[in-house]
Amino acid sequence: MKKPFDYSWIVFAVIIVVVIVAYKPVMNAIQQAQQPKEGSDYMVGEEIFYNPNAWGPENRSCAMCHKEDYTLSPNYAKVEMEDFAYVELKGIKKKFGVGVIGNPDRLLSQVNRCLSSPQRIDGGTITFADLKWQPLLAYLVRQ
Ligand code: HEC
Repeated sequence: MKKPFDYSWIVFAVIIVVVIVAYKPVMNAIQQAQQPKEGSDYMVGEEIFYNPNAWGPENRSCAMCHKEDYTLSPNYAKVEMEDFAYVELKGIKKKFGVGVIGNPDRLLSQVNRCLSSPQRIDGGTITFADLKWQPLLAYLVRQ
Protein backbone atom coordinates (compact mmCIF):
# COMPACT_ATOMS: atom_id res chain seq x y z
CA MET A 1 0.00 0.00 0.00
CA LYS A 2 1.29 3.49 -0.88
CA LYS A 3 1.75 5.97 1.97
CA PRO A 4 -0.07 9.32 1.57
CA PHE A 5 2.34 12.18 0.87
CA ASP A 6 3.48 13.84 4.10
CA TYR A 7 3.08 17.61 3.92
CA SER A 8 4.11 18.33 7.49
CA TRP A 9 7.73 19.07 6.60
CA ILE A 10 6.56 21.80 4.19
CA VAL A 11 4.48 23.40 6.93
CA PHE A 12 7.47 23.15 9.24
CA ALA A 13 9.80 24.74 6.68
CA VAL A 14 7.36 27.60 6.06
CA ILE A 15 7.12 28.30 9.81
CA ILE A 16 10.92 28.42 10.10
CA VAL A 17 11.18 30.86 7.18
CA VAL A 18 8.45 33.10 8.62
CA VAL A 19 10.18 33.16 12.02
CA ILE A 20 13.53 34.06 10.45
CA VAL A 21 12.04 36.80 8.27
CA ALA A 22 9.80 38.29 10.98
CA TYR A 23 12.26 38.11 13.88
CA LYS A 24 14.05 41.40 13.34
CA PRO A 25 11.04 43.65 12.59
CA VAL A 26 9.16 42.18 15.56
CA MET A 27 12.09 42.65 17.93
CA ASN A 28 12.57 46.22 16.65
CA ALA A 29 8.89 47.00 17.25
CA ILE A 30 9.07 45.60 20.79
CA GLN A 31 12.18 47.61 21.52
CA GLN A 32 10.57 50.77 20.20
CA ALA A 33 7.47 50.20 22.33
CA GLN A 34 9.72 49.93 25.39
CA GLN A 35 11.48 53.24 24.73
CA PRO A 36 10.22 55.96 27.06
CA LYS A 37 8.01 58.40 25.16
CA GLU A 38 8.18 62.19 25.14
CA GLY A 39 5.96 63.52 27.93
CA SER A 40 5.65 60.11 29.61
CA ASP A 41 5.85 59.83 33.40
CA TYR A 42 9.33 58.37 33.01
CA MET A 43 10.60 61.38 31.06
CA VAL A 44 8.99 63.86 33.43
CA GLY A 45 10.46 61.92 36.36
CA GLU A 46 13.91 62.02 34.81
CA GLU A 47 13.59 65.78 34.37
CA ILE A 48 12.64 66.19 38.05
CA PHE A 49 15.48 63.90 39.11
CA TYR A 50 18.09 65.99 37.29
CA ASN A 51 16.58 69.42 37.94
CA PRO A 52 18.89 71.27 40.38
CA ASN A 53 16.06 73.60 41.41
CA ALA A 54 13.15 71.16 41.65
CA TRP A 55 12.77 71.14 45.42
CA GLY A 56 13.24 74.70 46.63
CA PRO A 57 16.89 75.07 47.63
CA GLU A 58 19.15 75.98 44.73
CA ASN A 59 21.75 73.66 43.28
CA ARG A 60 20.40 70.46 44.85
CA SER A 61 19.19 67.56 42.73
CA CYS A 62 18.73 63.84 43.23
CA ALA A 63 21.06 63.24 40.29
CA MET A 64 23.99 64.90 42.07
CA CYS A 65 24.35 61.90 44.38
CA HIS A 66 22.82 59.24 42.15
CA LYS A 67 24.13 59.97 38.65
CA GLU A 68 27.62 60.76 37.53
CA ASP A 69 26.33 63.01 34.72
CA TYR A 70 24.41 65.47 36.95
CA THR A 71 24.24 69.16 36.10
CA LEU A 72 24.94 72.12 38.38
CA SER A 73 22.79 75.23 38.65
CA PRO A 74 24.14 78.24 36.78
CA ASN A 75 26.54 80.30 38.98
CA TYR A 76 27.59 77.25 41.00
CA ALA A 77 30.99 75.68 40.52
CA LYS A 78 30.35 72.59 42.64
CA VAL A 79 27.84 70.56 44.60
CA GLU A 80 27.43 72.03 48.06
CA MET A 81 25.51 69.31 49.88
CA GLU A 82 27.27 67.83 52.91
CA ASP A 83 26.35 64.20 52.07
CA PHE A 84 27.49 64.59 48.47
CA ALA A 85 28.82 61.21 47.32
CA TYR A 86 27.95 58.91 44.47
CA VAL A 87 25.39 56.25 45.40
CA GLU A 88 24.37 54.16 42.41
CA LEU A 89 20.65 53.40 42.06
CA LYS A 90 20.20 49.87 40.81
CA GLY A 91 17.45 47.25 40.95
CA ILE A 92 15.15 49.68 42.79
CA LYS A 93 11.94 47.93 41.70
CA LYS A 94 13.05 44.62 43.19
CA LYS A 95 14.83 46.03 46.20
CA PHE A 96 11.82 48.08 47.33
CA GLY A 97 9.15 45.66 46.11
CA VAL A 98 7.31 48.17 43.97
CA GLY A 99 6.04 46.04 41.09
CA VAL A 100 2.47 46.08 39.81
CA ILE A 101 1.12 44.61 43.06
CA GLY A 102 3.91 46.02 45.21
CA ASN A 103 3.77 48.67 47.88
CA PRO A 104 5.72 51.88 47.35
CA ASP A 105 5.68 52.94 51.05
CA ARG A 106 9.31 52.07 51.67
CA LEU A 107 10.48 53.76 48.51
CA LEU A 108 8.60 56.94 49.39
CA SER A 109 10.22 56.90 52.86
CA GLN A 110 13.66 56.56 51.30
CA VAL A 111 12.97 59.39 48.85
CA ASN A 112 11.79 61.57 51.74
CA ARG A 113 14.93 60.66 53.67
CA CYS A 114 17.07 62.02 50.83
CA LEU A 115 14.73 64.92 50.26
CA SER A 116 14.29 66.21 53.80
CA SER A 117 17.80 65.77 55.19
CA PRO A 118 19.59 69.12 55.67
CA GLN A 119 22.79 67.35 54.60
CA ARG A 120 21.08 66.35 51.35
CA ILE A 121 18.31 68.26 49.52
CA ASP A 122 16.73 69.98 52.53
CA GLY A 123 13.51 70.27 50.55
CA GLY A 124 10.89 68.97 52.98
CA THR A 125 8.88 65.83 52.25
CA ILE A 126 6.38 64.66 49.64
CA THR A 127 3.32 62.38 49.83
CA PHE A 128 1.74 60.00 47.32
CA ALA A 129 -0.58 62.87 46.33
CA ASP A 130 2.32 65.11 45.31
CA LEU A 131 2.35 65.74 41.55
CA LYS A 132 6.05 64.90 41.47
CA TRP A 133 5.59 61.43 43.00
CA GLN A 134 4.09 59.46 40.07
CA PRO A 135 6.71 60.59 37.53
CA LEU A 136 9.52 60.14 40.06
CA LEU A 137 8.26 56.62 40.83
CA ALA A 138 8.07 55.77 37.12
CA TYR A 139 11.68 56.91 36.76
CA LEU A 140 13.02 55.21 39.89
CA VAL A 141 11.55 51.76 39.17
CA ARG A 142 13.51 51.66 35.92
CA GLN A 143 16.83 52.21 37.70
C1 HEC B 1 23.46 64.46 49.03
C2 HEC B 1 23.33 63.14 48.48
C3 HEC B 1 21.95 62.61 48.09
C4 HEC B 1 20.96 63.27 47.40
C5 HEC B 1 20.95 64.68 46.90
C6 HEC B 1 19.90 62.30 47.21
N1 HEC B 1 20.26 61.12 47.78
FE1 HEC B 1 19.23 59.38 47.58
N2 HEC B 1 20.66 58.44 48.70
C7 HEC B 1 21.78 59.04 49.24
C8 HEC B 1 22.48 58.09 50.08
C9 HEC B 1 23.77 58.35 50.85
C10 HEC B 1 21.74 56.88 50.01
C11 HEC B 1 22.03 55.55 50.76
C12 HEC B 1 20.96 55.25 51.78
C13 HEC B 1 20.79 56.38 52.78
O1 HEC B 1 21.74 56.70 53.52
O2 HEC B 1 19.71 56.98 52.79
C14 HEC B 1 20.61 57.15 49.12
C15 HEC B 1 19.67 56.22 48.77
C16 HEC B 1 18.64 56.42 47.87
C17 HEC B 1 17.74 55.41 47.41
C18 HEC B 1 17.82 53.93 47.77
C19 HEC B 1 18.95 53.26 47.04
C20 HEC B 1 19.10 51.82 47.41
O3 HEC B 1 19.63 51.08 46.56
O4 HEC B 1 18.73 51.44 48.52
C21 HEC B 1 16.84 56.00 46.58
C22 HEC B 1 15.70 55.34 45.82
C23 HEC B 1 17.17 57.41 46.55
N3 HEC B 1 18.27 57.62 47.34
C24 HEC B 1 16.45 58.35 45.85
C25 HEC B 1 16.75 59.71 45.88
C26 HEC B 1 15.92 60.72 45.28
C27 HEC B 1 14.61 60.47 44.55
C28 HEC B 1 16.53 61.91 45.51
C29 HEC B 1 16.03 63.27 45.17
C30 HEC B 1 14.78 63.67 45.79
C31 HEC B 1 17.76 61.63 46.23
N4 HEC B 1 17.85 60.28 46.45
C32 HEC B 1 18.71 62.58 46.58
C33 HEC B 1 22.21 60.31 49.00
C34 HEC B 1 21.50 61.27 48.32
